[in-house]
Amino acid sequence: MLNIGIIGCGDVATHSYMPGLKALADRARVVAVFDIVPSRVDDALAFFPDAAPYTDYDAFVAHDAEKMDLVFNLTPAPLHREITSKALEAGYSVYSEKPIASTLGDAEALVALAESKGLHFFCAPAMMVTGRFMWLKEFIYSGAIGNPYFIKGQIGGMGPASWRTYSGDPRVFYTPKVGPLIDLGVYQLHALTGLFGPARTVSAVGGIMNPTRKLLQPKFFGEEIEVQAPDLYSINLTFDNNRSANLFNTFAMPATKSAMFEIYGSMGAVSIGQHQWYEGNGTTDIYVRDESEGGEAEGWNNDSPLPNPIEVDGILESGILHAIDVMTNGTDNVLTAAHAEHVLEIMLAAGESLTTGDSIAITSSL
Ligand SMILES: NC(=O)c1ccc[n+]([C@@H]2O[C@H](COP(=O)([O-])OP(=O)(O)OC[C@H]3O[C@@H](n4cnc5c(N)ncnc54)[C@H](O)[C@@H]3O)[C@@H](O)[C@H]2O)c1
Repeated sequence: MLNIGIIGCGDVATHSYMPGLKALADRARVVAVFDIVPSRVDDALAFFPDAAPYTDYDAFVAHDAEKMDLVFNLTPAPLHREITSKALEAGYSVYSEKPIASTLGDAEALVALAESKGLHFFCAPAMMVTGRFMWLKEFIYSGAIGNPYFIKGQIGGMGPASWRTYSGDPRVFYTPKVGPLIDLGVYQLHALTGLFGPARTVSAVGGIMNPTRKLLQPKFFGEEIEVQAPDLYSINLTFDNNRSANLFNTFAMPATKSAMFEIYGSMGAVSIGQHQWYEGNGTTDIYVRDESEGGEAEGWNNDSPLPNPIEVDGILESGILHAIDVMTNGTDNVLTAAHAEHVLEIMLAAGESLTTGDSIAITSSL
């Protein structure tokens, strides 16, 4: 049984991580919860009444009634480095929400710290440990769609300012350290690089399309905020073996009917629609080419079920399950800090390319 601590008991904690951890209570027990806002700690206690409640970080890291094996850092993005660093320093393995940090130097320092302490360091997003993507990685190289050579990804909307039921602070998402890439594009970049390997070059167009936003949550309704980070990116990426990809990622898209993720190969295509993407064990549409004389097999196999679904369905929940598995059974960690650092380099390069117009070489690997 693993002892778990939770840092940051806000929107994603209460909607995904806490229910996800509760569902795995036979393997992991939440023993301490921490947030600087007391009402958020109360929300956590509703899930885990026996957990020790903290509103002070020093007191939380000193918690020694039941030593924590793993802490989840579920604070807003700009705080990740500082919170993770202190937890590692205190000797706790960490599961960090994305991004790992805001700069490559900070990310490298965290990786070095975790290594020097011999601690596990898991980095969201958990795309590559979902049932679908574990299968897809084998499927696209099985010959089923010939040689896979291009991925087209799209993820976005209008962002948290227009997400009426969002219970966190939407303003942080339009500041320079967040934006649509750090918030959402990161999922697709983990998937792209998880399937095609490390990106070699990045170029991007886009910028700030809507310079101000009206907040629609009841708590903030009508407040107008300034958009300080690009809210639209179209990013071209190159990979080894003549593979490439495009990611369209934005907080400036009122609506879309496009698929979220498509892979093209010489003999077929894979398509994951908006209704399928968020289900880790969800169905996938597969197109098969048939060059035989009759061509009978040519066409779409829509909603193909996943051959080997895993125990949990959500993307975030798949990450929790993976971390527990690694720490309990010694399975290899797929949610590595090296992968998160590589994706951070891509995201920073996309920002640089927007400003300079240059194609940027990527030096890190997975
Ligand atoms: N909300 C989602 O649907 C969602 C989905 C996937 C990933 N995420 C990621 O999860 C993280 C948290 O997002 P959220 O939407 O839950 O935000 P949120 O604002 O709702 O929650 C963050 C919580 O952290 C607390 N907090 C702030 N400063 C703190 C500090 N110094 N120490 C401890 N706690 C502190 C806040 O009080 C709040 O309760 C972000 O990295 C986000 O990108 C969110």
